[in-house]
Amino acid sequence: MVDRDIPFVDPAVGQKEIEAVKEVIASKNLVEGTYTHSFETKFAAFSNVKHAIACNNGTSALHLAMEASPIQPGEEVITTPFTFIATSNSILFTGAVPKFVDIDTETWNLDPEKIEDAITENTKAIMPVHIFGLAADMPAIRDIADDNDLFIIEDAAQAHGAKINGQHVGGFGDIGTFSLYVTKNLIAGEGGVVTTNDDELADTVISLKNHGRTPRGGYEHIRVGYNFRLADFAGAIADTQMDKIEDLLAKRATNAKFYRKIIDEIDGLDYQHVPKGFDHGNYIFAIDTRNHEIKPTDAVQKLKEHRVLARPIYSTLSYQQASFKRVDQWRWAKFVDYPDYSKEHLAVSEAVATNHFEIPVVPSLSDEEREHVGQALYEIFQ
Ligand SMILES: Cc1ncc(COP(=O)(O)O)c(C=O)c1O
Repeated sequence: MVDRDIPFVDPAVGQKEIEAVKEVIASKNLVEGTYTHSFETKFAAFSNVKHAIACNNGTSALHLAMEASPIQPGEEVITTPFTFIATSNSILFTGAVPKFVDIDTETWNLDPEKIEDAITENTKAIMPVHIFGLAADMPAIRDIADDNDLFIIEDAAQAHGAKINGQHVGGFGDIGTFSLYVTKNLIAGEGGVVTTNDDELADTVISLKNHGRTPRGGYEHIRVGYNFRLADFAGAIADTQMDKIEDLLAKRATNAKFYRKIIDEIDGLDYQHVPKGFDHGNYIFAIDTRNHEIKPTDAVQKLKEHRVLARPIYSTLSYQQASFKRVDQWRWAKFVDYPDYSKEHLAVSEAVATNHFEIPVVPSLSDEEREHVGQALYEIFQ
């Protein structure tokens, strides 16, 4: 028997992070100092992009990306409803219109064919999400964007470590965004990153996140901006994590590989399929019960009896949220025509939403704990 409730969230922080935070406090340089800039350099190298710009969370990163983009109020951004609400909220922030497109039945990411069908004269951009750490089909999405003159914002909040043919996510689109929230593969507590290979976009984002200042700082403001800067003690945690990210990702990959093998042996259970050439970041390991008689609520309860913590995640799709059904209440609705999201139905998204739940894939799992989770899956589902 295991000696703890096996968790699905377990921040991988320890003495090194404590020391780094102490150093920041001792330096009295609490905002975007040495550590944050060191983190930005390391993260740009890690994700193979020219610019990595830290900010205070992943939602701000998306907001900055939208604000720096050419997308205007009233223009459509194609996105997935099977995600955390911040994805589509960020489209609303700047007055743009989320256009929901269905996901692929195996990868649970935006289906490129359906993207093509959804493009109208008013479509300006695509915002794919690399859901649970598996990259969306970026080569296909890039082709569609190029053919139709669309901007791409990659929501890579969950996808540190996700790659396609060796290329890390965050650099496939015009701009990419990551979260460093405490549950993620790489954390700061609260934090975010904007990535881009475009110098002009990078300058705009740096200015936007710092009150619209120029690089000279001071009290000159050349655009309307925000304060989305990162505190340096959060930057210090993220910077320290960069030294162990490959190890953390390898542990997640080992856990996920083990689960896939077990689930392959259980009739009716499935998981998110990883296409050839893709490396899953394994942020979340989710089980698919579409073809099994035991459904997520029951599964979670039964796993709990084995001291395995589990939970359904996006069982309510973005367009099913009350905030979207009542989008006419949103301030931009005075100026922008939004669709009636309450009439939306996307079959694959709805089926996956009600038939998935996550199990622990965190790097802290011991071999015994992983075996224990596997055994519980056999006992419950076989
Ligand atoms: C897909 C997705 N987008 C955006 C965000 C927002 O990131 P944050 O929580 O750091 O604001 C998250 C965070 O959890 C996310 O999962």
